[in-house]
Amino acid sequence: MKTKVITIEENNINMEAVEEAGAILKRGGLVAFPTETVYGLGGDALNGESSARIYAAKGRPSDNPLIIHIADMGDLSMIAKDVPKEAYLLAERYWPGPLTMIFHKTDIVPYATTGGLKTVAVRMPSHETARALIRAAGGFVAAPSANRSGRPSPTLARYVIEDLDGCVDLIIDGGQTQIGLESTIVDFTGEEPVILRPGYVTEAMVREAAGRVLTDQAVIDSDSDQAPRAPGMKYRHYAPRGSLFLVEGETDKVSAYINEQIALKRRQGLRTGVIAAQETADRYTADVVKSMGKRHDGEEAARQLFRILRELDDENAQIIYAEAFAGEGVGAAVMNRLLKAAGHQVLQAGDKQDQKGETAQ
Ligand code: TXA
Ligand code: MG
Repeated sequence: MKTKVITIEENNINMEAVEEAGAILKRGGLVAFPTETVYGLGGDALNGESSARIYAAKGRPSDNPLIIHIADMGDLSMIAKDVPKEAYLLAERYWPGPLTMIFHKTDIVPYATTGGLKTVAVRMPSHETARALIRAAGGFVAAPSANRSGRPSPTLARYVIEDLDGCVDLIIDGGQTQIGLESTIVDFTGEEPVILRPGYVTEAMVREAAGRVLTDQAVIDSDSDQAPRAPGMKYRHYAPRGSLFLVEGETDKVSAYINEQIALKRRQGLRTGVIAAQETADRYTADVVKSMGKRHDGEEAARQLFRILRELDDENAQIIYAEAFAGEGVGAAVMNRLLKAAGHQVLQAGDKQDQKGETAQ
């Protein structure tokens, strides 16, 4: 299959491109498109064969359900039932936007889209082109992140091309995505709303709008042996090809420790990488050093993280150390993704006795 790429201007809907994309989706084809979070790999959500194509293109396990994207509130009841009042409160505040909610599905949603589950994940993106495209496609677009399974989610069309060229009909290039991390997922099918994947909409924001919420322990606790409830969260994700370690501790100790490790690994002939805050980036002697922005700027870190993980691969970093960042607000979501990228390999700078995972390379 030859993949066509159309570049669009930001903040300017290109109706010709939207119509073309809509027609492709309606006949069962695949279109990758920008959203405010990351690029999505879209197919008609109500067509099981389209969903099967999405799984094939991504190389994604078929038990990992897709998110259905809608453009209008009135369409929610077509695919979801038993939507609680709290969910409407949350939607009022954060839809359209980087929020996905899980409900019981209606019969028109094929199991091929929900990975066999009776529940369905729904999101209404705020990206104008994304919403126009959803409408042009008939209203329901299944779209996982547009990366090969296991790779970091794409924040630039270049990475979609890298992963999916020849596997999709069309890629819409809308430049860098604004948020850079995938949507917050809140499950409304249980007794209480539960955050299954942290994101730009934080736990405090959800609690404020919906009144109450819990966070699935497995997403935040690196030592938890509970399986996360979003099937996609159980897979090792976002992983760079190099071995990644997260280093926790007091800033100066973290820098000193990382530099010690770099010297050691270099002597072993390995190419080293570091992910650091802007304030400390110039302390490091690694072959490749990437700055995530100012230490307490979680939003900037969110925008940079996935690009940085891909660049470390492109620059062949074989062993990578990342400073641990503040886990507040959107920073919590950044840490969640970093932990997953590191396969939960966390090192403690300072007290040697506290070090974990030293042999895990
Ligand atoms: O920001 C986003 O959400 C992006 C853009 C493209 O909208 N999409 C995205 O999709 O991140 P994906 O497929 O990469 O991640 C969806 C996550 C997976 O971890 C999946 O297991 C979970 O949502 N999920 C989907 N449906 C679910 C369901 N019914 N129950 C539990 N988890 C579900
Ligand atoms: Mg994904």
